[in-house]
Amino acid sequence: MSIEAIKKESERILSRLCTEKSEISTKEKLESFKVAFLGRNGEITALSGMLGSIDKSLKPEAGKILNETKKAVTAEIENLTLQVESALKGKADFVDISLPGRTWKLGKKHPITKTIDDCVAIFRRIGFVVADGPCIETVHHCFNALNTPKDHPSRDKSDTFYFPDGRLLRTQTSTVQIRVMESQQPPIRIIAPGPCFRPDTPDATHSANFHQIEGLYIDKNVSMADLKSTLMYFAKELMGENVKIRFRPHFFPFTEPSVEYDFSCIMCEGKGCNVCKHSGWLEISGAGMVDPNVLKNVGYDPSIWSGFAWGMGVERITMIRHRINDIRYFYDNDVRFLNQF
Ligand code: DAH
Repeated sequence: MSIEAIKKESERILSRLCTEKSEISTKEKLESFKVAFLGRNGEITALSGMLGSIDKSLKPEAGKILNETKKAVTAEIENLTLQVESALKGKADFVDISLPGRTWKLGKKHPITKTIDDCVAIFRRIGFVVADGPCIETVHHCFNALNTPKDHPSRDKSDTFYFPDGRLLRTQTSTVQIRVMESQQPPIRIIAPGPCFRPDTPDATHSANFHQIEGLYIDKNVSMADLKSTLMYFAKELMGENVKIRFRPHFFPFTEPSVEYDFSCIMCEGKGCNVCKHSGWLEISGAGMVDPNVLKNVGYDPSIWSGFAWGMGVERITMIRHRINDIRYFYDNDVRFLNQF
């Protein structure tokens, strides 16, 4: 092998480099270009292989040619790498303003949240403020302070979820009445929306978790007429001007007298249909005048202060508003259902 042959081979490699580099526009092409010249079976390895069969005295000169060729190839490939990278970066920065804009899919409020928000807005307009309390409660806040007798069935294990330490998952938002009255002095005008829990087997009208909105009004000389006008105002704001309201006698440990209240059926306007089971009325929930024992339990003087309270089922109201016939739809998280609101 002569120096001439090595020189010639080096020139061939450099001229190949020159012609092929103009085609390198992608990272993939660059990679195989690199392999072709600097790889294990590439041009430079082959060139250095030629040095093995050269006369010893010519080796320094041949080595120089090899090194220069390798240097030129490496520099050219580095150069190409920079060019390809900056060309690709330029592409990513390019904004085609003729493309249609990307729309963002906005989430929606859950129908239960929507009903709570609507109800809160209605009560806020007549001066009620939102109060909150924990879901994990004490027997004191859920039953004792609410004047619930020791043998009342709602305390039973079959009606309340208990923790081993004696605490419980609140079965009603009435617990917030106690928390608010224990921490502040009258007058009081609060609503307390939130989750409640009962060990109910799920069916079309029962769910182990559900929501209530509690209301409490404490002041001097509060009467049943105040309760009725407050609920009447609420019913009209939520359901429309024509809705009627009726009270039926009932019992709750924390109110005396107690009532259950109904709205006239919005579907048939009281004439009777299958939504109201032909009664013309839709049952909403319970209410009443706060029992003096409850006032005493929180340290209020019942000879000065009086008040009314109510609770209502948020699922029930939402089902009536949107004519939904199964409570489980609210908790299945099926977007085909949720998208409709
Ligand atoms: N806590 C009752 C329940 O879950 C509803 C209720 C009735 C709330 C009367 C009240 C009330 O504040 O005064 O069934």
